[in-house]
Amino acid sequence: MGLAGHKILVTGAASGIGLATGRLLRSLGASVVAVDYDESRLAHNWGDDPTGGSTSHCFDLLNTEGIPAFMSDVTSKEGTLSGLVHAAGLSSISPTRLLTPARYRDVFSVNAEAALALLRGFQNRSVCRETGGSVVFISSVIGLVGSAGGSAYAMSKAALSGLAKSAALEYAPRKIRVNCVAPGFVRTAMYEQNSRLWSDAQREQIEAAHPLGLGTPEDVANAAAFLVADAARWITGTVLVCDGGYTAS
Ligand SMILES: NC(=O)c1ccc[n+]([C@@H]2O[C@H](COP(=O)([O-])OP(=O)(O)OC[C@H]3O[C@@H](n4cnc5c(N)ncnc54)[C@H](O)[C@@H]3O)[C@@H](O)[C@H]2O)c1
Repeated sequence: MGLAGHKILVTGAASGIGLATGRLLRSLGASVVAVDYDESRLAHNWGDDPTGGSTSHCFDLLNTEGIPAFMSDVTSKEGTLSGLVHAAGLSSISPTRLLTPARYRDVFSVNAEAALALLRGFQNRSVCRETGGSVVFISSVIGLVGSAGGSAYAMSKAALSGLAKSAALEYAPRKIRVNCVAPGFVRTAMYEQNSRLWSDAQREQIEAAHPLGLGTPEDVANAAAFLVADAARWITGTVLVCDGGYTAS
């Protein structure tokens, strides 16, 4: 599980699961390239690393076409990557009939299209180290099982497992592994934002649907770190469900 000598780019690193993942990877010895579009929270959490083991970059992943060039630019200055964790994401809770194209396109762009663009950037030989690497997409249980009002979000997260499986086959010859982590509900800013739309009964129902209780960002970070590490060198094209039992029944 040690990550000394690894350099891992983490998106969504300013908050929640991305932040916890970046911090855990750092504590396991990796250098972290923290990426987010929230400049102030990025600076607050990553701005001043006295160890020199992390850098931070403000980038809006809605600019999907710019992602490969952004990654090339970063690695030309900071060295090649051994891993990538795409944790940035947007949620969407809305009856399907009320979804606006602008909103569902943004959700799909950040959650899924950006994942494809990040993979395209990562596989570039000037970006990924020669000995191979590991790509982890943070998906969701809502990409695996249904959720009323979750159609746009579910579509974007279900896309990630298809992407991971095909990319795993395509990049296995280069020892680039591609996997997803599918978390259940985790107490983060996104969860707090969503929970404002729920009644007390809905909130209780969601909590009760997790036999082990709601997750913490660190619970998901542990799963992502495992998939990035050499300990998972024989694991590719899979979805690691990390959900306190949400999908067990
Ligand atoms: N919290 C949950 O219950 C839960 C459950 C399952 C999956 N997830 C997934 O986990 C991931 C992390 O979510 P979280 O709960 O930590 O949320 P969060 O809101 O705490 O963090 C998401 C981060 O993504 C960043 N981001 C959003 N849009 C961006 C963009 N266009 N460009 C760059 N950065 C952008 C935000 O600034 C934020 O820092 C997401 O992909 C989410 O879908 C969350």
